[in-house]
Amino acid sequence: MVKKQMVTDLNLNTGINDIFFLKDIEFRVRRDKKAIDMFFKIGDKTGEIEAINWDISADKVEELGKIEFARIQGHITKKKIDGTLQATVSSIIKAAPLDLDYSDYLPHSKENLDELMHKIFSKINSVENYHLKNLLKSFFDDQEFAEKFKRTPAATKVHQPYIGGLLEHTLSVVTICEDIGNIYKEINRDFLITMAILHDIGKVREYAYDKIIEFTDEGKLLGHITLGLEMIDQKIKNIDGFPQDLELIVKHTLLSHHGHFEFGSPKLPSILAAIALHYADEMEAKISGFINIKEENKDFKEKWSKWIWWLERPVYLDEEIILKNKINETEEDRYNE
Ligand SMILES: [Fe+2]
Ligand SMILES: [Fe+2]
Repeated sequence: MVKKQMVTDLNLNTGINDIFFLKDIEFRVRRDKKAIDMFFKIGDKTGEIEAINWDISADKVEELGKIEFARIQGHITKKKIDGTLQATVSSIIKAAPLDLDYSDYLPHSKENLDELMHKIFSKINSVENYHLKNLLKSFFDDQEFAEKFKRTPAATKVHQPYIGGLLEHTLSVVTICEDIGNIYKEINRDFLITMAILHDIGKVREYAYDKIIEFTDEGKLLGHITLGLEMIDQKIKNIDGFPQDLELIVKHTLLSHHGHFEFGSPKLPSILAAIALHYADEMEAKISGFINIKEENKDFKEKWSKWIWWLERPVYLDEEIILKNKINETEEDRYNE
């Protein structure tokens, strides 16, 4: 069934009648202990909004709590001061899988992913070292891996949490690493580029993205650093004559790329390429995450965003307004004043 109404089509007083995913479902019992209200979010690939279903019967709680996708009927009844919408829902009917096209619910990169993959392949071809190129090809010549790498999100939240996010993130880290390599000639380019391409490969097993983006069990239990190490270990075992000392620094650079114990790296970067990769990765993730916050807040009416947990600060949102007003101001204007 074709989805006609997206979250971005909704506004104050709009009637709602389409299939959305449900998340963050919470049931609250009113003080009189008689009525139960259901607080949740409805969403699709364009975004999500708060929703309330007032006064539901107690015997429906279990059934409603398990619903992932449903036809929602209701109205947008509130626009908060910060510009966010709230829906009052009158009917929730579980959607049959056949009525769903999951691509309506999964956010997708705006980039052409085939073109980005092409760029990754040309970076792989630019690596001259025989062993490193063999290692890269052992992953990317495998079509099943390449297809997963192309679609995997970079995260469930924060930075590039959409289909194709890992590919976008990886390519940006590679580009930053190339620039670092141009400044600091002491760093071995082939090694740094190889590790930039491989540093997050464990994410292809860390995330599932069939219906919604979520962690896999092995993602939750092991994480992408451990999974990536395991994947590299298996590949190297099958490559004839891969030097043992090179294997050690490949593994070290992968393990240490988060740069801190508290961010999941069991070892801190102890070689030049590893420290370069760590900062390139952190810079890419932080800037992309920041851009994401700006995008999410583009209709937010306040100067400051809400508190952003991973930055431990709110973000100032009027940067563009200031810069737009001043950007055309030339030296000449100043003299003419
Ligand atoms: Fe990572
Ligand atoms: Fe990364």
